[in-house]
Amino acid sequence: MNQRRSFFKNTLGLALGASAVLSGASANDLTSRIKSKTANKYEFYGTHQQGIATPAQKFIYFLVLDLHETEPKKISEIFKLWTAQSTNLSEGKNIEKYSSNALLPPVDTGEADSLEHANLTLTFGVSASFFDKLGLKNKPSELADLPHFPRDQLKEQFVGGDICIQACADDPQVAFHAARNLLRTARTSLSPKWSQMGFNSFMGSDTPRNLFAFKDGTINPKKTELDKEVWIKGGVFDKGSYLIARKVVMHLETWDRTHLKGQNETFGRQRASGAPFGKTDEFSEIELSGDNAAPETSHAFLAKSAGAKILRRSYSYASGVNERGALDAGLLFISFQRDPAQFIAIQSALGLKDRMNEYITNIGSGMFACFGGVSRDKNDYIGKRLFS
Ligand code: HEM
Repeated sequence: MNQRRSFFKNTLGLALGASAVLSGASANDLTSRIKSKTANKYEFYGTHQQGIATPAQKFIYFLVLDLHETEPKKISEIFKLWTAQSTNLSEGKNIEKYSSNALLPPVDTGEADSLEHANLTLTFGVSASFFDKLGLKNKPSELADLPHFPRDQLKEQFVGGDICIQACADDPQVAFHAARNLLRTARTSLSPKWSQMGFNSFMGSDTPRNLFAFKDGTINPKKTELDKEVWIKGGVFDKGSYLIARKVVMHLETWDRTHLKGQNETFGRQRASGAPFGKTDEFSEIELSGDNAAPETSHAFLAKSAGAKILRRSYSYASGVNERGALDAGLLFISFQRDPAQFIAIQSALGLKDRMNEYITNIGSGMFACFGGVSRDKNDYIGKRLFS
């Protein structure tokens, strides 16, 4: 509460000067968010952060922030504040109760006031540059910039950043509202570097289809494999995970001119069922040799032959029309892994060979270490281990 007060005192001090004028209930009062009928399936607190092994919700708002502040103490105060606010947001509440002072900007931006929690999850991570800017000495050696990959055409505006906030929910406005309010709270110390909204539609427990119409997410580590493949063991990110984000443009018009046989050969799976060649079940084992083998240049063949496993949790995006007059659409690829080397092995195997390269361009990239979960202990907060 004190931190919140000091934030508003610092940032909104001028407005506070006029605050004595109005108080008590009035027509200007705002009512807080409607009470959700059910509890969020995903509590903010836990061993691991939500939004990693959590089944993907339908929408994402992914926000990457740059630090202006180099004083670790100030950033730890922001992380404490974000912990309290994230708990409220996950429960479908405003970041903080509205004041009755109509001469202050409302403490919550309010666009979710008529909406429930929508199973919101918030996941926080930091990059290598975060440690460098704050002069923190406990950076794990795995946390570094990704190497340049063949055919990367990265645009500076979608690369790097110091902090990521992944907001996922079954309602796009709830996801956006959460990220917007967390940013607003810390605006004097941080600014947005890049962001992407995404969608991921599916019925029931079906595997979602990407914008090339293929089921995407069929092969992912099983629950029993998460300890081995996804969760970091030990160190400041214990029970966290490395997040790799890639903004990938998908050239839909070129794809839509490709015959179905070519589309199937590009992925090494059948578009209708998602099944491997020669099989009818989406979840049958994909074969790398023999009569039913997927083509050697297909995406699934190359990704599988790398021999590494990652947890993919990607979202499609469609963001208007590009400078060539085509739809600006693609995939916000997100994967979680215990060690970035797992992603690097697969991306290197795809390399120049992946037939899908003809239809995509990688324009954005970032690596963030996501913290372990926050416990219910009132002294715990996001990223506490970094500062202690
Ligand atoms: C626009 C970009 C991409 C699209 C549209 C895409 C699409 C697909 C599709 C349709 C599948 C087959 C179904 C499935 O198992 O989910 C697949 C599999 C896979 N993809 Fe991608 N992918 C993209 C980028 C990437 C990247 C950047 C990586 C990692 C470097 C990757 C790693 C994998 C892996 C590991 C598999 C599973 C392979 C297996 O073991 O069968 N994908 N992808």
